[in-house]
Amino acid sequence: MSATIDIRFRLNGVDTEVSVPATMSALEMLRDRLDLTGTKYACGEGECGACTISVDGVTVNSCLMFAADCDGRELMTIEGLAASSVGEALRASFTRNGAVQCGFCTPGIMMQAHSVLQKHGSCEPADLKRTIEGNLCRCTGYVKIIDSMAEACVAADEGA
Ligand code: FES
Ligand code: FES
Repeated sequence: MSATIDIRFRLNGVDTEVSVPATMSALEMLRDRLDLTGTKYACGEGECGACTISVDGVTVNSCLMFAADCDGRELMTIEGLAASSVGEALRASFTRNGAVQCGFCTPGIMMQAHSVLQKHGSCEPADLKRTIEGNLCRCTGYVKIIDSMAEACVAADEGA
């Protein structure tokens, strides 16, 4: 049995404490310990981006991060993003453009989109496409996803 570690971090703006096995991933902690099931488990190998979260403002694959390494960090998941104005803008643009089919990839892609908006990155479709190179979607073929990201990006630039 692996050792248990007590960690503290800020999660979606809330101070959080949890006791985790040393070998537990951040993804398992979020889904199984904290009931934040918006972050998805798919490949478990850092290939699909379904488990993308933000740690200290940087997107990471939570399946590859130890929960113990969350200690002292600032985490945001799709639940935190969804509760923000940026999350609302992304939800609206994805809905308008029909960019969600099964929805499995959507949380990870929205976390990436949020990262682009935060950095005031380019809203050019070709540049946005590059930002989701690590996010696989089995359903939509990406065109509607890129359109949605571009729409939210332009709206953010215009201060909408
Ligand atoms: S589940 Fe983490 S990258 Fe696929
Ligand atoms: S909408 Fe189904 S995997 Fe992307």
